Amino acid sequence: MAEIEIINVTKRFGTNLVVDNVSLEIADKEFVTLLGPSGCGKTTTLRMIAGFLQPDAGEIRVGGQLISNATFMTPPERRNMGMVFQNYAVWPHMNVFENVAFGLQMKKVGKQETKERVAKMLEMVGLSGLEGRYPGQMSGGQQQRVALARALVVEPTILLLDEPLSNLDAKLREQMRFTIKDLQRRTGITFVYVTHDQAEALAMSDRVAVIQLGKVQQYGPPGDVYKRPANRLVADFMGLVNLLPGKIERLDDEGQAQVRLGDDWLVTASVPAKAAVGGKVTLVVRPEDINLLPAGRAAEDQSLARGTVGKMTFLGNYTDYRVEVNGRELRVQAASSTPFADGEPVAVQIDPVSCFGLCE
Ligand SMILES: Nc1ncnc2c1ncn2[C@@H]1O[C@H](COP(=O)(O)OP(=O)(O)O)[C@@H](O)[C@H]1O
Ligand SMILES: [Mg+2]
Repeated sequence: MAEIEIINVTKRFGTNLVVDNVSLEIADKEFVTLLGPSGCGKTTTLRMIAGFLQPDAGEIRVGGQLISNATFMTPPERRNMGMVFQNYAVWPHMNVFENVAFGLQMKKVGKQETKERVAKMLEMVGLSGLEGRYPGQMSGGQQQRVALARALVVEPTILLLDEPLSNLDAKLREQMRFTIKDLQRRTGITFVYVTHDQAEALAMSDRVAVIQLGKVQQYGPPGDVYKRPANRLVADFMGLVNLLPGKIERLDDEGQAQVRLGDDWLVTASVPAKAAVGGKVTLVVRPEDINLLPAGRAAEDQSLARGTVGKMTFLGNYTDYRVEVNGRELRVQAASSTPFADGEPVAVQIDPVSCFGLCE
């Protein structure tokens, strides 16, 4: 069993509190991503799981067994974990076969078995036939595939990945997401993945831990952290968002509320259990969850607001709008097939299904 328990772990560098009483449970065979801005403590957390850093307080357990606390450390080489880094860290003087076989040779695995396991691993990462190549003759994406194969061939119970795609260009990064997710499914190894890129986290993870200011702000499936953020920090970090202050006018048993956003603008949103009629709420509305309609529609329907297109930008697969509503600017992203021009009056409609309220 490779489930990981991080329990009230704290880490300081001097007076800099980098990991602040963090608790996280990662299930066996789960793909969990630590997501947050640069400097929030992701690498520090990963290095504590790996055993390169010791917590100042709290403990880390794997499969129920203590591996780290402030006075005890299982050394990294006895944790059965693999690691993949941003800079590939493959050995330049070894060819692909030698790079991948290295860990097996250290474990005194026989020649024939080594050959078979390396071949199988290279097939999994899509490098069959490149056994004799040297890293200097390969692209960044191929080198990272070598690094993945090298880490996985020794069959660790846990693979730790620290921004492994950050050095690759956008198209390759997108391709490699599929490769990494597929590898995790096929090997059944627990993956702990660190990134600052929310799209990467959403695309691959079973659960995402959004970290800011040394704390886990939210831990949940990708759909939850994107659509139902725990607070403004999470809402903001997960991409472009409109945060609209309003007041709850009606509330049903299922947590569906009627929220007043303006004198003649009343919208439906789901709100947290602690919400109350008359209370303040901040609606979290993603740009893709707002529709623009012909202006006349707003007169007959209270759920629509009148607005004016401030700036329309054609971006190919969608059109980005900045829309003035009640003196506030909304960000809207809509299909490119229904363009509204700069200065044009519009009716603004928020999709009630996707609209979520924060009570802070
Ligand atoms: N070995 C170290 N000594 C001193 N400060 C460190 C050390 N490692 C990291 N830090 C500091 O801890 C903070 C978090 O770093 P890190 O965990 O690398 O962040 P992230 O991976 O989220 O970008 C940063 O302010 C960084 O400067
Ligand atoms: Mg880092």
